[in-house]
Amino acid sequence: MSDDLLDPYFEPYVDDEGLFSYLHRFFSRHNSLNTWEHCQKVAQEAKRLANVYHADPVIAEQAGWLHDIGTIVPNEEKIHICDQMNINILEEEREFPYILHQKLSRDMTTKVFGLTEPLLLNAIECHTTLRADIGLMDKVLFVADKLSWDNADAAPYIKEMRSKAVDSLEDAIMVYMDHVWRNREHMKVVHPWLIEAREVLIQRKG
Ligand SMILES: [Fe+2]
Ligand SMILES: [Fe+2]
Repeated sequence: MSDDLLDPYFEPYVDDEGLFSYLHRFFSRHNSLNTWEHCQKVAQEAKRLANVYHADPVIAEQAGWLHDIGTIVPNEEKIHICDQMNINILEEEREFPYILHQKLSRDMTTKVFGLTEPLLLNAIECHTTLRADIGLMDKVLFVADKLSWDNADAAPYIKEMRSKAVDSLEDAIMVYMDHVWRNREHMKVVHPWLIEAREVLIQRKG
């Protein structure tokens, strides 16, 4: 990728500033403080779940802060930017480029902030869809993200997810997966990673 590809979106990051302060400024500059509020809620929830389920709470919190930085790229530019960053684009993502924000967020985390921790990067990369190979941190971020959506009316399953998450992250995830499955005819696309993740979780249950 050309070095200046991300320049319109990101100012240079210096470690001294700290991630939290940089991201506050970043989302503010892009008029996306509502997204930043969401990210802070996800970070808080992810940290809490990490403590309950014995995952690393520091990584979980960072994942929450960073998981949606890719939403800053407008949907109509996501495909172009992904191409330039050599990010593989699936057919379903071409149809519904918004989903590409999870892959963009992952690569931006490395390129802009120099973070390379695989648990962090993997969780960010599949936070919307999960995938067949699901790690503990992936589950933590996925559940935290869904539990932190604002509009409770649009997501009646959130309550059920929250109660399941007390005992089992996978049971909480299945509440969401079942919801998607019931509504799949009405959705623009169902991401193949989500289909694979759902199959893996069903097999584990059976
Ligand atoms: Fe997201
Ligand atoms: Fe999110």
